[in-house]
Amino acid sequence: MRQPPAPLFPESPAIALSSIARQSVAGIYILQDANFQYSNDTFAGMAGYNGDEVVGRPLRECVPPDYEAEVMDRYNRRISGEVKSMRFITRGLHRDGHVVYIEVHGQAMEFRGRPAVVGVGVNVTEQLLRDEELRQSRQEYRQLASYLNTMREQQRAEYAREVHDVLGGLLTSMKLDVGRIARRSRSSAIRGIAADLNALLVEAIGNVREISESMRPQALDHLGLAAAMASHLARFRERAGLRASLEPLDFELDLPRWRSIGVFRIFQEALTNVARHAKATAVVVRLRHEADDFVLEIEDNGCGMAAADCFEPNPLRFSLGLISMRERAHELGGELRIDSAPGQGTRVVLTAPIVSNPLAMHA
Ligand SMILES: Nc1ncnc2c1ncn2[C@@H]1O[C@H](COP(=O)(O)OP(=O)(O)O)[C@@H](O)[C@H]1O
Ligand SMILES: [Mg+2]
Repeated sequence: MRQPPAPLFPESPAIALSSIARQSVAGIYILQDANFQYSNDTFAGMAGYNGDEVVGRPLRECVPPDYEAEVMDRYNRRISGEVKSMRFITRGLHRDGHVVYIEVHGQAMEFRGRPAVVGVGVNVTEQLLRDEELRQSRQEYRQLASYLNTMREQQRAEYAREVHDVLGGLLTSMKLDVGRIARRSRSSAIRGIAADLNALLVEAIGNVREISESMRPQALDHLGLAAAMASHLARFRERAGLRASLEPLDFELDLPRWRSIGVFRIFQEALTNVARHAKATAVVVRLRHEADDFVLEIEDNGCGMAAADCFEPNPLRFSLGLISMRERAHELGGELRIDSAPGQGTRVVLTAPIVSNPLAMHA
């Protein structure tokens, strides 16, 4: 004859379950008549007590005073049967007075024949504090990044002015003098040297203009974003030796200067990356409106990059370009997306609102 299977719980199931509850790593409690009828040591331990010390205590005494009404309301809604089960983060009062955060899942159930709430809780205080610290340090980092960008733009504008006015002015005077030498000298040897010097000076003046323009794009102020981009793209095409186009050429976008410079810097960095990393033969820059946003796309047909690099630029490699573009996008109230895969080219997409949030830092 076959033996009946050994019982799962050698003693009564109730004893086994209460032993499981006692040893559980999750907090377990039962509330009835707005008092704790049961608490295991884990749950009570979150407030600095052991299980027995909590039994019989009113629920309202175990939470911060300003939180009592909310806790009692939630309790009553379950006891009355209005809601069967609730999951939320609650505040509890620790024995030594500080507040603990507990994520609980409590259900309406019958206990000794009458309505009660039976729940499970996990202490999430540390996790919430860490989240808050992370949120704060992220906010500080954003403020710092934004401050540094503003300072950098101010410095660039100063250098651009110095380079353009002082250095450019000197070179232009030298060029005039070289012209005078050439006109006054009868020696063809000297006139030849003057002509060479003149050519060098023309080149130097061009370089100065280009350096000062890239530090503070005057075209942005005078001609608007699309025209400044077109003019930068024309120079880029020559220097990088690849096809580069802007679509459309006459895009209208009226942004305050600090915002248009932000968009322009993202555009510049994306192009620098194309020249430096992509091994591309063509790049297309597109501007368009999308509802209340504008969209800037810089797409190349180069070697592309791994998805991990698009989303987690590695600051240890000092590749801060992508991070800085993303921060600029954030400052503009928008976001930056990078679509890329090895061998598939790269598309950098900035989407930002046309009208900036009136509370934005620089508005
Ligand atoms: N258009 C692109 N094509 C291919 N790889 C790119 C492109 N843009 C960026 N990358 C890759 O992403 C990395 C990070 O770029 P970035 O943050 O601008 O740093 P950096 O240009 O200083 O290396 C680059 O080193 C490069 O490997
Ligand atoms: Mg870069």
